[in-house]
Amino acid sequence: MNTVESLDKNNIPNHVAIIMDGNGRWAKKQGMLRVFGHENGTKSVRTTIEAAAKYGVKNLTLYAFSSENWNRPKLEVEALMRLLVKSLKNELATLSKNNLKLNIIGNVSLLPKGVQEELNYVVEKTKNNTHMTITLALSYGSREEITNMIKEISKKVKNNIISSDAIDESIINQHLYTHDLPDVDLVIRTSGEQRISNFLLWQIAYAELYFTEVLWPDFTEDHFINALMSYQQRERRFGKTSEQIK
Ligand code: IPE
Ligand code: IPE
Ligand code: MG
Repeated sequence: MNTVESLDKNNIPNHVAIIMDGNGRWAKKQGMLRVFGHENGTKSVRTTIEAAAKYGVKNLTLYAFSSENWNRPKLEVEALMRLLVKSLKNELATLSKNNLKLNIIGNVSLLPKGVQEELNYVVEKTKNNTHMTITLALSYGSREEITNMIKEISKKVKNNIISSDAIDESIINQHLYTHDLPDVDLVIRTSGEQRISNFLLWQIAYAELYFTEVLWPDFTEDHFINALMSYQQRERRFGKTSEQIK
């Protein structure tokens, strides 16, 4: 087991994004309904937020509900929405106390009105907090985000607000849901699946990927440290040679 002492404080990823997967299988393993897994998953959310804030991660992005998750059984979707409102209500005080800012990415307009109101409330209340930004990806799909970005930029080109020649990576970034966030440094996915599932396709271009068999409700601070340790053992070359990096 890795220890906190062996973590290099000067090489903490600035932006960690997590695909929190395996709630359903976790519940099924104990003969419970999937919703039970989602409920227990919220504890791991809390633990992970605390750990990330403690070790100096400045941006933590959590994939909570994908565009494709709308296709799940109605009862499961409703339970997830209820759980979301409940967690937001419970966590507001902790977010404020620890100087944590909540940010949302995704097609929020598809969420139930009550959820939207609760989200707006917490985002507004935490908007001046500076210790760490927690971004919840909700009703989020990267292809949809990229499609919207192209529509927005096309409109501006048509209305002569920008010229097509001026379109560059920075302009593209400004038109994504993640416009205020830096590139992702580390992606963690739990539950043993090794896929991206339509998460931040543009933003993870040079991220390090970390997959673990641990199911999300079992994910602890130690597991998070293991992911950071693995990240610190990588050499990020960004196309250069190893000699150029050293
Ligand atoms: C992740 O766990 C939570 C959401 C996608 C909302 P799952 O619900 O996907 O759990 P598994 O993958 O079925 O075990
Ligand atoms: C990805 O998990 C979405 C979230 C974790 C919110 P899924 O369980 O929906 O992913 P797939 O469909 O198995 O790839
Ligand atoms: Mg899953």
